[in-house]
Amino acid sequence: AVTKIGVLIGSLRKDSFNRKIYMALKSMVPASFEMEEIKIGDLPIYNQDFDDEGNPPEAWSTFRKNAKAFDAFLFVTPEYNRSIPAVIKNAIDVGSRPYGKSVWDGKPGAVVSVSPGRLSAFGANHHLRQSLVFLNIPVMQQPEAYIGDVASIFDDRGAITDERTREFLQKFVDAFINWIKIIASK
Ligand code: FNR
Repeated sequence: AVTKIGVLIGSLRKDSFNRKIYMALKSMVPASFEMEEIKIGDLPIYNQDFDDEGNPPEAWSTFRKNAKAFDAFLFVTPEYNRSIPAVIKNAIDVGSRPYGKSVWDGKPGAVVSVSPGRLSAFGANHHLRQSLVFLNIPVMQQPEAYIGDVASIFDDRGAITDERTREFLQKFVDAFINWIKIIASK
């Protein structure tokens, strides 16, 4: 069977660098694994009343059902104001409820942060980890993935021209595949 990795991307921008990094990572997984983006842009902002009243928005239910079918999660995110963008936090919150029915519980995960800047979205990377630890996602610790100066590593067609970055991303994917196998065997 194929092991399915659901990917949440913290940018909705059509030319998103984060999505380009995701496309590169997706092309690097071995045959028995696959990465698929889980869309998060149309999820209404979390409001507990909708769950308490047993009437969650359709988009939440679809997202939760969809997310449950994945074996692992990869979070690829920019940094907004030294933290994570609201769109990805909202998706994490929606997936974590109703209480006791979290879609995240126990599934292996990994984080990639991406920025045109030199600090490589460090703040977002670690704020994200704070929530993932609480949600009982065993998050891969090494290698950490901070992709900085990202505007300089692609050609016009979105292919990675920087060989060192490509090698690093492959190393990251290999380690994550291994991490998923380790967690699955426990
Ligand atoms: C940013 N950006 C940004 N970058 C960064 O490295 N640290 C930061 O704190 C912020 N803050 C921030 C806030 C807001 C509201 C926006 C819109 C942007 C810049 C950001 O890294 C840049 O727009 C990236 O290109 C976003 O990723 P995508 O959309 O290319 O995937």
